[in-house]
Amino acid sequence: MDTIDRREFLAAGAVSALAAGPLGAAVTQHPAAQPAVQPAGAGGDAHRGACFVSSANGLRAVDRAMELMAGGTHPLDAIVDGVAIVEDDPHDNSVGFGGLPNEEGVVQLDASVMDGPLHRAGSVGALENIKNPARVALQVMRRTDHVMLVGAGALRFALRLGFKEEDLLTESSRRAWLKWRENLSKDDDWLGDDDRDAIEGKPLGWRAAPIDIESGPSVPGDSGVPHTTGTIHCSGVTGTGHVVACTSTSGLSWKLPGRLGDSPIVGAGMYCDNGIGSAGATGRGEAVIGVCGAFSIVQHMEAGKTPTEACLAVLTRMADRTREKRLLDDRGRPNYNVTMYAVRKDGAYGSAAMWKGSRFAVGTSGPARLEASAWLYEK
Ligand code: GLY
Repeated sequence: MDTIDRREFLAAGAVSALAAGPLGAAVTQHPAAQPAVQPAGAGGDAHRGACFVSSANGLRAVDRAMELMAGGTHPLDAIVDGVAIVEDDPHDNSVGFGGLPNEEGVVQLDASVMDGPLHRAGSVGALENIKNPARVALQVMRRTDHVMLVGAGALRFALRLGFKEEDLLTESSRRAWLKWRENLSKDDDWLGDDDRDAIEGKPLGWRAAPIDIESGPSVPGDSGVPHTTGTIHCSGVTGTGHVVACTSTSGLSWKLPGRLGDSPIVGAGMYCDNGIGSAGATGRGEAVIGVCGAFSIVQHMEAGKTPTEACLAVLTRMADRTREKRLLDDRGRPNYNVTMYAVRKDGAYGSAAMWKGSRFAVGTSGPARLEASAWLYEK
């Protein structure tokens, strides 16, 4: 059972950095996880006792993965197929088709996968025009001796394998980009909302409502322009103890072209070890990279922490190592969010976020469900 209370967490010496930070309570309860490790069986048995977790936008991904595994699909193909549902969804503007673009209005996608038994990974970064980067990452792992391909090379690789090139910008994400670009600076030649209002004689401040963007995990910033560090991560263990991980994202919206976050970085945005478990992250990638997020969670689980404790330990380190004022609120707490997810080899699972309010998807038996993530800070 992956249950933690603050006293237990401290007593376990979970985080020496706790003393350094102004931490709020991190109390959450998760139902007892069923032991997932059963005698090895062939294909179709792999779903029995399986446990998969994902970011909250991955409910359908988890269901699809479980369904495919029940039919004998390899667990990594199964989660990559599940993740593809979200990559294909134009309404999720943090992943794949419809993801918010970079500062030039171009969608650049990152993804990574890892297979526990082989301890092999594949990854792509800044991939343009291919809506399923996780599928390409899987092929990097399976068809090459490399781990990571980026940019034009990743695109050429995908095209050679028969992936179809298409424009990933939806009308909604194009309008969001245009709104962001027009309002970026008073000193460029784009006329922003205020300039146009002045031309039309409208009073300042009348434009209160955020722009009409299709629902997704982005949040409107101060100006009403949506902004996202959203991502999908999925970690799992099958009933036969096969551990897998996959992360896919369109990355930070309005990023500099070529920027890679944590998602394509093996050990940051996702990582698994077949003897221990799997982990991953969503949220501000730069912060996750700074603490080797997913790898650190797996290390903490190896040292005996529950999945939730392991996620909290890494978030606590992240908070402690966030030193720049621009990234802190007036109480010295990180002003960004990161949510971490973990599954242990025995089927225990958990998730924790920097800020209260995150949820995560869990698939054990029956349809996937959402549960509350533990947290470090509360507003
Ligand atoms: N975690 C997604 C990103 O920062 O790109």
